[in-house]
Amino acid sequence: MVDVSTAAEPVAPTGEPIPGPPGLGPKELRALLADAPRFFTGLREQYGPIASFPYGLSRGYLVSDPNVIQDIYVSTGRKFDKNVLPGGRGKRIAPFSVGLGDGLATSGGELHRKQRRLIQPVFHRQRIAGYGDAFAQLAEAGAAELKDGHELNIQEAMYELSLGMVAKTVFDVSLDSHVATTIRLAFPRRGGPMRWEQVVPFGRFIMRLPLRANRRFWKGHKYLNGIIQQMIDERRAGPGDGDDLLSVLINVRDADTGEPMNDQLLHDEAVTLLMAGHETSSAGLTWAYHLLAKNPEAKARLHAELDEVLGDRLPEAADLPNLPYTDAIFSEVMRMYPPVWNTVRRSLEDYDANGYVIPKDRFVMMSPWVVHHDPTWWPEPDRFAPQRWIAADDGDPLSGQALEPGRPRMAYLPFGSGPRQCIGNAFARMEAVMTLATIGRHWEFDAVNDDPVPILTHITVQPKDGLTMIARRRR
Ligand code: HEM
Repeated sequence: MVDVSTAAEPVAPTGEPIPGPPGLGPKELRALLADAPRFFTGLREQYGPIASFPYGLSRGYLVSDPNVIQDIYVSTGRKFDKNVLPGGRGKRIAPFSVGLGDGLATSGGELHRKQRRLIQPVFHRQRIAGYGDAFAQLAEAGAAELKDGHELNIQEAMYELSLGMVAKTVFDVSLDSHVATTIRLAFPRRGGPMRWEQVVPFGRFIMRLPLRANRRFWKGHKYLNGIIQQMIDERRAGPGDGDDLLSVLINVRDADTGEPMNDQLLHDEAVTLLMAGHETSSAGLTWAYHLLAKNPEAKARLHAELDEVLGDRLPEAADLPNLPYTDAIFSEVMRMYPPVWNTVRRSLEDYDANGYVIPKDRFVMMSPWVVHHDPTWWPEPDRFAPQRWIAADDGDPLSGQALEPGRPRMAYLPFGSGPRQCIGNAFARMEAVMTLATIGRHWEFDAVNDDPVPILTHITVQPKDGLTMIARRRR
């Protein structure tokens, strides 16, 4: 049982310096570059829930207290913003702005508020449920390519599948279309040059250097821009009744002014949904199969649920309430390997974090990975235990652990919270549960060896060298 009564008490009087290493030596730097999520987990273990670390010429802050995280998320837009990177001429920009323009993930202020209000209804649960059949059919088509006993790179397979799902729902195009080919060029695996925007403060300048990878990336973007414009034009000229997300975005009107979105914003939002919607989901599914292979009991329970509820038929959105274990697997994968391992903000004023002062204009990190591996909130944090998400009186102390009353909400934050919370949250869950259910009816995947899988954090948490697994037909 986790004692939540005292965990968020103030830990220091205002004015005391926030604990943290004064500098990073070669050993620490190597650890940071090799595995940033585990490096920052170590920082929390050593220095506590409000810690500081050297960041450029200043200091950055790692906040791991769920209640403070909640406050920072909720006050984003007032006390914090997402513009943490130098954008030239004294301006600051959000990570990935160079690739995603003024889309929902990277815009700020009034523009973000307005766009969020317009787009939120597009992600209404009922609409997302309407995509359930498409997800199941695409997963079934992916499963048809599997060969019993053959090795495959599950990371590649899940990338293609997630890209297919997002291409279908955003643009109503299939993966063998020229649109999908262009998307692949514009969004190379592992972020391509876009990763620089996340890794180093001046990444946006590196993206402009005349390197081959950069040229390919910008060429892909130029093509993609042209194709998206063409799709916007076609939809505007058509009957306007399409139900792909681009059609819906074209049709939304501002509640106050009645104005539609202009073409540039439509473009930036479409690109944002494409990008935000496939990197993350493919990472989640890849880790799901990795964790299931390492945990035969969980795999067996998944299969038992699918056999009982679905048998041979494809899942539908209406089946989801009857697939609690499949859903719990997704929740637990998001806990252990949150694809967005880190979220960042800039303080717009001095901020009191449990009695410590984070000064104005500082880089602040809230890491789902770090919080999800904190034993204060997650007993046996390194154990894959989907039963945490299902209340059961079965004597297992982990059963229902994540549902205990009184836990701070942000002990679990794979999708963030507040005004910048992931808008694709329900979409991602539907996509993952439909995929696990569809493929799991007939197929399972085994690990090829027991070696640990090193991670890479370019944009999302992915296996560093791909992930080879063996496909086995189980029924
Ligand atoms: C497993 C899958 C996913 C994970 C783990 C994930 C995670 C996140 C997180 C943590 C944020 C907040 C970042 C912050 O606070 O700085 C976010 C924002 C966002 N996500 Fe997701 N996401 C996923 C899937 C999706 C999908 C499928 C879509 C769209 C189809 C999507 C679209 C977005 C957008 C547009 C934002 C920006 C929202 C805003 O700032 O208003 N995401 N996501």
